[in-house]
Amino acid sequence: MTATESAMSADTARDSEAAADTIAALASPDGPLRLYEHYHRLRTADPIHQSQHESFPDCWFISRHEDVYKILRDRRFVQDARNAEVFAGTEGAFADMCSRMLIFLPPGPHERTRGIIYRAFTPQAVARWEPRIEAVIHELIESAIAKGECELLHEVLYSLPMTVISELLGATPDERAEFDRLFGGQGHEMSDVGRASDDQRSAADRMVEEFTELVAAMIKNQRDPNTVLATLIEATEDGDRLSTDEVIAAVYILIGAGHETTANLLGNGLSYLLGPDRDQWDRLVADPSLVPSAVEELMRYDTSVQFNQRVANEDVVYESAEGPVRIDENQRIIVLLGAANRDPAVFDNPDVLDVGRDPNPHLAFGAGMYYCLGANLARLEMNIALDALVSRVPNMELAGDPEFRRTWMMRGVNDLAVRF
Ligand code: HEM
Repeated sequence: MTATESAMSADTARDSEAAADTIAALASPDGPLRLYEHYHRLRTADPIHQSQHESFPDCWFISRHEDVYKILRDRRFVQDARNAEVFAGTEGAFADMCSRMLIFLPPGPHERTRGIIYRAFTPQAVARWEPRIEAVIHELIESAIAKGECELLHEVLYSLPMTVISELLGATPDERAEFDRLFGGQGHEMSDVGRASDDQRSAADRMVEEFTELVAAMIKNQRDPNTVLATLIEATEDGDRLSTDEVIAAVYILIGAGHETTANLLGNGLSYLLGPDRDQWDRLVADPSLVPSAVEELMRYDTSVQFNQRVANEDVVYESAEGPVRIDENQRIIVLLGAANRDPAVFDNPDVLDVGRDPNPHLAFGAGMYYCLGANLARLEMNIALDALVSRVPNMELAGDPEFRRTWMMRGVNDLAVRF
């Protein structure tokens, strides 16, 4: 080995050690409190890092925007039951539900099911609901404003996507209340990969059993042809329909994937806009035409879904900017969307929240075949909500210091007390 080669290999070992320390810091209970510092360290030290951490043995961590985007679009890296197992285990009602859930289906079955569910979420379908969504959001915000102060996260932001999806599904007020009780805003604990306890899994099993009964009854009593539920029941792909169990799993993923994600994203964003980035709130108040770019920037700056999982479906030689990387069949990959969204190679001043940022190629909705199916709906909800808040309560201020939860995958604040 030449002197230059041995210096390079010493550098590589040091970088890999720094990256391993960073994964340990990220996986620790306090990791989420200094998330973006850790991401920057990881991206600089070893952007395609193979971990030996006990919670992530042999798992690859991807932190550069370019690699995250390429890997999400590479069909050799898939979702399937192996990813669900990490938090659902292999037995019980919850694991069973996961085995039918769109997000954990491998490529062939995924394409079929996505094709059917997507019928209900095309831009045209979502645009048709716009007036109703707008009315729901304004109603929620008006009743909060009338009180003069509120805990915005749970009283408004959580209710917003849950009320909207319940309306779209055609749920009665009682059924909607049941969805609220069953989902209860605890999804962030279950989805914190590798951390779910046996008690949490048993509670998830009981929840899924009750949910299945509830939605089975809704399917039986379904009368209105203009609901998402009716579309799911009726829609076909080449004459092929979803079974009742598949419809139930579709309703589960629509609520599960659309509820905490949207609420926490707005919660995170508002904690900055009303806190350290108040100047950006004032910019929005002065010029509400910035709301659409502000929504994109909040998604980039601190998204609620911090990472996606994949598993290699075959031995892969991945071509990275530094050269080939061999990833073996069955090895897990964690693509860090939050790290990609702060990559200085793509975003100028990535740690600055700029509501006018343009272009903004963030990856908060993922990419490739599992790209967020609810992206059109989520964007619409967030635009309407932010626009309503900026115009109705320009003087809104924090009534406490929001603190971030110690969950990594599903990021959010504990609460958001505000006064108007
Ligand atoms: C701001 C809010 C949201 C964020 C940040 C978000 C983020 C994401 C991300 C990153 C993925 C990709 C997962 C992966 O590749 O493994 C995803 C998938 C998905 N999202 Fe969203 N989402 C949001 C809102 C919604 C809403 C409102 C719905 C529906 C009502 C929804 C339904 C789905 C579904 C069904 C999938 C699975 C797609 C598939 O497997 O083909 N999401 N979401």
